[in-house]
Amino acid sequence: MKVQTLILGAGAAGLMAAAHAGPDTLVIDHARAPGEKIRISGGGRCNFTNLNCAPVNFLGQNPHFHKSALSRYTPWDFLDLVNAHGIAWHEKTLGQLFCDGKATQIVAMLLKEMEKASATLWLQTAVREVAHDGGAFRVTLEKDGATRVVTCANLVLATGGKSIPKMGATGLAYDVAAQFGHAITETRPALVPFTFDKDRFAPLAGISCPSRIRCNGVSFDEALLFTHRGLSGPAVLQVSSYWREGQAIEIDLLPETDLGAELRARRVTEGRKAVATAIGQQLPARLADSVTTELALTGNLADLSDKRLQTLDDRLHRWSLRPTGTEGYRTAEVTLGGIATDAVDSKTMMSKHRPGLYIIGEALDVTGWLGGYNFQWAWASAVAAGAAI
Ligand code: FDA
Repeated sequence: MKVQTLILGAGAAGLMAAAHAGPDTLVIDHARAPGEKIRISGGGRCNFTNLNCAPVNFLGQNPHFHKSALSRYTPWDFLDLVNAHGIAWHEKTLGQLFCDGKATQIVAMLLKEMEKASATLWLQTAVREVAHDGGAFRVTLEKDGATRVVTCANLVLATGGKSIPKMGATGLAYDVAAQFGHAITETRPALVPFTFDKDRFAPLAGISCPSRIRCNGVSFDEALLFTHRGLSGPAVLQVSSYWREGQAIEIDLLPETDLGAELRARRVTEGRKAVATAIGQQLPARLADSVTTELALTGNLADLSDKRLQTLDDRLHRWSLRPTGTEGYRTAEVTLGGIATDAVDSKTMMSKHRPGLYIIGEALDVTGWLGGYNFQWAWASAVAAGAAI
């Protein structure tokens, strides 16, 4: 069988590329359903883009690579598409746009766009071999127990990263790109919860509070969540992309309050108030109890010496913790690193080693922050490739 364009992967980037790549396009995926990560994203409501999307919200060895595609297909372009399909949405916080209803609306929208472009989708199709005979790509597929060889002028790698193998993530894009001479940068789980020594935070599990978390020169002001395994929540997921094994993170549990100054003042005006009660007004009760117990802060504010006050201030504003690790690809939202961008054209996403080979989405060494940035990259890189094809 011969097609003009074969897209490997019917996820966010693959479906979007299929809608833009022209009529003679076949998309294949080994999963039973397309866009599975879209379906489960954003707690089932899909945080499909971010209005504040800017190059600074992405990590990768080349901090300029993603600029061109992102500037040519913006969050407003995707929003136009969402609006044209009558999908209701809302801004949650920090520019993050979510569906009012189910995330599957976004999958259905992409499938409609793909059909409009007359592209074909084959599901439950495995890739056995990819080759190039000098003139065209020859891709050996397995579908319904039969082997099918597809030849194509354009081959698009859109099989994503390694996160959540249970959902079908594989390293196929890395293997095929490497086969055509592309380097792969170090890959690691990102946007992932931290783990700590067993049961360290179990008594606090379920508590969520505002925080500022710093690591490696970056800081994020978002919610922190204590879990049975360790720490999670948006602030933790964000810094996990910057953290490396063995490093400490620093947590400010009261980013909006100068606790030291406040307690010094209240020591004078409310000296008879218990320390535990005073900080219980600032923090969730179980967390306040745990801190006062840990620091043995019994007694009233009046009894709090400057030294003890400083210890408390440090503990709440500069709490240094060393994670033992992360939950890994099992729960990571994305893969940091991937196919090195130095040998990929930033305007077309075409390989500089093998003309006709395109690489899009999470498979590339472009990783967004939490908050709709990764989907925006999937859409923008897919449109760049689709337009070039
Ligand atoms: P994606 O993973 O979407 O698609 C790859 C496709 O390739 C899959 O359909 C897979 O089955 C297929 N495939 C893989 N290996 C194959 C093989 N060997 N043969 C055939 N097919 C193969 N981002 C965001 O911006 N907002 C959000 O709300 C969320 N939420 C979120 C929640 C969770 C739980 C996760 C895991 C991730 C997110 N993300 C997110 C990240 C986002 O889902 C991700 O960055 C994009 O889906 C990446 O799009 P791609 O198309 O590159 O890969």
